Formats: sequence, C-alpha cells, structure tokens
Amino acid sequence: NLKITIIGGGSSYTPELIEGFILRYHELPITELCLVDVIEGAEKLSIILDLTKRMFQRANLNVKVTATYDRDIALPSSDFVITQLRVGGINARIKDEQIAFKHHMLGQETNGLAGFAKAMRTIPVILAIAKDMERLCPNAWLINFTNPAGIITEAVLNHSFIKTIGLCNVPVNMHKAVSRQLGSDNFFMQITGLNHYVWGHKIVFEGEDQLQSLLPKLMMDDSFNPKNIGNTPYAIEQILGSGLMPCYYHSYFYMQGDMYNHAYEDFKEHGTRGEIVKKVETELFEIYRDQKCDKKPPQLENRGGAYYSEAACELVNAIYNDKNSLMVVDVLNNGILCNLPDNAVIETTSLITSSGAIPLPVNTLTETALGELSILKSYERLVISASLENSYAKALHALTIHPLIQSGSNLRTALDEIQKANDTFFRLN
Ligand code: G6P
Ligand code: MN
Repeated sequence: NLKITIIGGGSSYTPELIEGFILRYHELPITELCLVDVIEGAEKLSIILDLTKRMFQRANLNVKVTATYDRDIALPSSDFVITQLRVGGINARIKDEQIAFKHHMLGQETNGLAGFAKAMRTIPVILAIAKDMERLCPNAWLINFTNPAGIITEAVLNHSFIKTIGLCNVPVNMHKAVSRQLGSDNFFMQITGLNHYVWGHKIVFEGEDQLQSLLPKLMMDDSFNPKNIGNTPYAIEQILGSGLMPCYYHSYFYMQGDMYNHAYEDFKEHGTRGEIVKKVETELFEIYRDQKCDKKPPQLENRGGAYYSEAACELVNAIYNDKNSLMVVDVLNNGILCNLPDNAVIETTSLITSSGAIPLPVNTLTETALGELSILKSYERLVISASLENSYAKALHALTIHPLIQSGSNLRTALDEIQKANDTFFRLN
C-alpha cells in the first residue's frame, strides 16, 4: 500500500500533481490518494475530488481517491504528506500585496512584506500539521512547497521530528534553460542558495565547467521565466561580474527599482498578482467542473507554478525507489555553506535516497554570494522567531534588515496594517 495525502488538496494546482503521479505510476504505484482542505474551500475540494477520479479513470488506474476536512481521518497510514496550503486563501494574499504597494514596497507573494505576512500566517498552521503527523503518521515524509518554502521547511525541521523536505519549481526551470542552451540533457548542474534566491554555480558539460561561457546566452533567454514574474531585465555586466547564474527572483534584488516600477504599473492596470491569479482560478474551476474534463488543461500554465510536479512527484518517486538521483531541494545546511548555521535550511542540489536528501558539497559559490545569503537567512530566521514568540520587535527587526524593504516609520505603519489585516491569523505583542 502506498498512500499519499495532499493538504491543500482543493488547490487549482492539484491536477498538475495528479498528472505527475499518473506519469510515474509504473514506478510509484499509489493505492490511495487523500485530499485535505478546509471547510471554506468545500466547493473547490469537491470539484478537484471528481476531476482527480476522472483523471485516474482516463489513465485506467485503480487508485482510491478520498477527500476530507479532518486531518485525523487523512493522516493515519499516509506514507507521504504533501503540503500546498494557502492560509487565508487568495484573499489574504491580495490584501498583503495591496498593503505593500500602498506603502511603496513590492507587493509580491514570497518576497518582502507580503512574503513576511504569508510566513507569519503559515508557520503556526504548518507546525500544527507536523504535530498531527507526529501523532498519526510519525514515519511519513512531509514534502512541503507551501511558500515561503525555505522558511516554512526550516520551521518544521527545527520544531518537529517529522522528516521534511522542501521544494520549488524554480530550479526545474533553470535546468530547462541550461538544457536548451546546450541542446542536451546530459550535463551536471549544481544550484545553491535559499528558496527563491538560488544560483546555478556549476555546469559541467563534456568534462568541463562551462558556466562562464554559458552565462551571457543564459541571460538572454527569458523563455523559462514563470508567468508570475515575466521578463527580467538583468544588467548583463553585473551578472557577468557576479559569475553566477541567478534565478529569476534575483531580479527583484538586482534590479530593484526597475522591477518595482514595472510591478507597480501592472498593479495599477490589472491589480496585484493575487487578483490576476484569482481570475485565472475562477476560469480553471469552470474548466475543472466540466464532466468532460479529465486531464490537466493547458490554462494551468498561466500560473507561476507550472512544472512543479516535475519537482514534487519526482521527489516522492526518488525517495520511494531509493533512486540516488540529483534534485534541488530545501534541506538543513549542516556545514555545506560555512557561514550559515547548521540548522538553517538551504536550497541545494542533493542526492535523493530512501533515507532522505544528502546535499552535495559546494565549492564554487563566491564569497559575495555567501554574504548575500547570510543577510537573507538572518531575515528568515528572525521571522521564525517572531512567529514563535509573537514578537513585534523581532518582526520589525526582520523587516528592517530585508534588502527589499524600506526601513523607518513607513515600515512601522505598513507592519501595523499587515497586523490588522491578519489579526485572525497571528498577533504580535
Ligand atoms: C513560482 C514559484 C512558486 C510560486 C508561484 C506563484 O513558480 O516557484 O513558489 O507559488 O510562482 O505563481 P502564481 O501563479 O500563484 O503567482
Ligand atoms: Mn517556489
């Protein structure tokens, strides 16, 4: 028996996962799939439940599919628990993004002020889920891509006994970009950093590290940027100066003014990304509701998380089958990056085995890059402390040192507004 439980199962992204499991069924013979969501998402959950059944039927696979609001029913006998929940739903995301823009800060789901709010809403919930797992399925794996994935994974790893690995689709897209430049899949690539702040720092092809010669070409190729960010206007010289292949989220830091102005124009014209996503979701659910729909529709590619099943389903597959394959995942640092604490979570190329992810040694990340990570990791760890201690002081300090956030009295006002908008989820004293 192989049981997979998806928390946040009513998400419009679920068909992406189901497709990934269908494609891997010959290696990963799931017997039961349980979808868990909150009662507020009842309608979505029931639509996804029916669609999931139709997708398995179409593929001629005999998988028991169930749905529940109750983790006490879902968790027992689970082998893998996948978390893709969004505490407060899309409306909470929209509010955060609007507050950020109102105070002339970037309104972006995982970076800066809105990312902070999302973390503060999510940490207590994910820790409650981990506690339930300790009680009901203590040997199951928790595969997390609830954002901000690095912070959330670190909170679970340091405050529960559950085996946890985090992941993201960004490194998958970076691999695809390199593969396209090389015209081959036969290369070794190492990617390291923090979630949504990773670099490609080694690309070995035909026996040689070709990163430096590939960099200019890679920077011209925007085709793998996800829909939520669009094209990234990097200054080529700066990237060449850094000597590393940035991910697309780096553009918020390296081209801060440009990205902000662009995002602000978009906001004025179409609302925040969350508002756009809300419309895309309505359309998706119209499609999903149709009894004739029995596969993942192409419209799902309008979401930033396209291809994330290539990371998530393959990770489950690699653990289950002890594949010893290389994947980029969120794991404890344990000495890999010398300037970060051992119990800090980093996102890095790792060997995936049935006993977990073993990160590869990193020897080509620059001193500058390590410095950048150091400040961002300090921010992330302060956010976790602020959440655990409900500390206004730590929250304010975390936001103050974040490179995308303007410090000062404007920040205080913005934080107070974030608190007010989120007071059913967390309270800072
Ligand atoms: C990227 C990130 C995900 C994020 C998504 C947002 O793919 O890796 O972590 O959730 O974009 O996409 P959305 O369509 O919700 O704006
Ligand atoms: Mn991500």
